[in-house]
Formats: sequence, C-alpha cells, structure tokens
Amino acid sequence: MMSALRILLVPFALCTLLAHLSHAACVEVNSDTEAVAGRGFKLGCISCKMRGEVQATATVDWYFKAKGEINFTHIYTYDDPANPTDIRDDRFFDRLDWNGSKNTLDVQDGSIYILNVTFNDTGTYRCFFNRVLSFPNYEFHTNITKSVEMKVVPRATRSIASIFSEIMMYVSIIGLQVWLVVEMVYCYRKIAAAGEEALRESAAEYLAIASESKDNCAGVQVEE
Ligand SMILES: *[C@@H]1O[C@H](CO)[C@@H](O)[C@H](O)[C@H]1NC(C)=O
Ligand SMILES: *[C@@H]1O[C@H](CO)[C@@H](O)[C@H](O)[C@H]1NC(C)=O
Ligand SMILES: *[C@@H]1O[C@H](CO)[C@@H](O)[C@H](O)[C@H]1NC(C)=O
Ligand SMILES: *[C@@H]1O[C@H](CO)[C@@H](O)[C@H](O)[C@H]1NC(C)=O
Ligand SMILES: *[C@@H]1O[C@H](CO)[C@@H](O)[C@H](O)[C@H]1NC(C)=O
Repeated sequence: MMSALRILLVPFALCTLLAHLSHAACVEVNSDTEAVAGRGFKLGCISCKMRGEVQATATVDWYFKAKGEINFTHIYTYDDPANPTDIRDDRFFDRLDWNGSKNTLDVQDGSIYILNVTFNDTGTYRCFFNRVLSFPNYEFHTNITKSVEMKVVPRATRSIASIFSEIMMYVSIIGLQVWLVVEMVYCYRKIAAAGEEALRESAAEYLAIASESKDNCAGVQVEE
C-alpha cells in the first residue's frame, strides 16, 4: 500500500521539481548606477516571485527624485503589455523605453531605459512593483520597492598623456623587433663566417696532414 502510494507520488514530485527549475531563471541583479552623459542607460529593477509557479500579475511604477529635490515624482507606468511605454513626466518625454519582461503582465523584470542621459537625470530612482499572486482560493498583494542612486559622468575623453603613452608603447615594440631582427642577421652572418673559416681551417689542416702522411709514406718507402 505504501509503496504504491510512493510510485504514484514520484511523477508528481518530478513535475513540481521541473516547474521549479523552469522558473528558476529569475535572479535579482542590482542596477548599474553610473550613467554616461549623452548615452543610454538601463535602470534595472528585478523582483522575482517567491514561488515562480504561482500565477501573478504585476504593474510597475517608476518615481524620480532629482538631486537636490525633496519629493519623488511619478515618471513611468507599466500596466499594459500592449502599450509598455507610458511616460508621466515632461522631463523624460520621448526618452524612456521599457526594458523589462516582454509581452506579459506577469512582470518580474521592471527595468526601463533612459535614452540620451543628461546631467539633470542625476538623482534617485525608485521602482515600485504592485503584484497580485493568484492562489486557488485567494489573492495575495505584495508591494516591492527598490531604489537606484544614479550619477552621471561625462563621456570619457582620452587625455593627451594616454594617447602619447600608447604611441610610445608601439614605438618601443617596433623598436625592439627591429633590434631583434638586426641582431639575428648579425649573429647569422657571424656564425656563417665562423663556419666558413672553420671549414677553410679544417681543409688546410686536412691538406697538411695529407701531405705530411704522404711525406711519411715517401719516407717509409725510401727507407725500404
Ligand atoms: C513635497 O511633498 C509634500 C507633501 O506631499 C508637499 O507638502 C511639499 O510642498 C512638496 N515639496 C515640493 C518642493 O514639491
Ligand atoms: C532597452 O531599450 C533600448 C532602447 O529602446 C534598446 O536599444 C535595448 O535593446 C533594450 N534592451 C533590452 C534588453 O530590452
Ligand atoms: C541628446 O541631447 C542633447 C542635449 O540634451 C542633444 O543636443 C542631442 O541632439 C540629443 N541626441 C539625441 C540622439 O537625441
Ligand atoms: C537642466 O536643468 C536646468 C535647470 O533646471 C535647465 O536650465 C537645463 O535646461 C536642463 N538641461 C537639460 C539638458 O535638460
Ligand atoms: C500596495 O500598494 C497599493 C497601492 O499603493 C496599496 O493600495 C496596498 O495597500 C499596498 N499593499 C501592501 C500589502 O502594502
């Protein structure tokens, strides 16, 4: 009886495990905080569902408090997958784009993208997830808020010093290689010359020995 129950339960457990694994892809990564003026910047905001397999819907709102201001103002809403770009503040008119979960109301990634960042965009951004989890018999509301402290830096311009040092690097690399080639040619010639000399020397030696032995031979012959 018990083993029969166990056999029945195994596929069920496997299914639950697979469901868990297939939803395990959501990872809460913190947003970057340093934007470059004139470029685009992704304001990241990820809020994973505690239990991936539970059906849910979420809306996302973004608020912004510029550096030096006291209050947050509502700048963006995502509540309709068919119309994801809903900008609520003139300062960001035509400059925000949805970068979060695509074509779904079951949002876990609520990131937005700022186009053409200006120094005036420096400040605190707050994203607000309003999520409804649907269980068989009831619904459960959660609100999650995250903050991104964004600062804007000027576009990196290369200093004269860094350009100069790069040129010097190439000059020294080429210089070293030329020196290496010159040294190799020089050594090759020296070795070749030494080899020739040695050859000549050994030839002379051979001739000397040969003539000497000839002499000896002649001597022996004479003695006989
Ligand atoms: C900030 O909000 C408070 C309360 O909503 C309001 O009384 C105050 O005038 C606001 N300050 C600014 C600078 O908008
Ligand atoms: C985010 O939005 C920008 C601007 O629309 C786009 O270029 C970029 O590909 C988007 N990135 C993602 C990951 O959706
Ligand atoms: C970015 O903004 C600057 C000034 O704010 C403007 O001169 C430039 O044309 C804008 N670039 C784009 C691609 O919108
Ligand atoms: C930045 O803010 C200042 C003061 O509010 C304004 O005069 C300036 O035009 C703004 N710059 C941009 C690029 O929006
Ligand atoms: C979540 O936020 C909504 C709207 O601001 C509010 O009505 C609701 O009470 C909040 N729920 C929780 C659990 O804080």
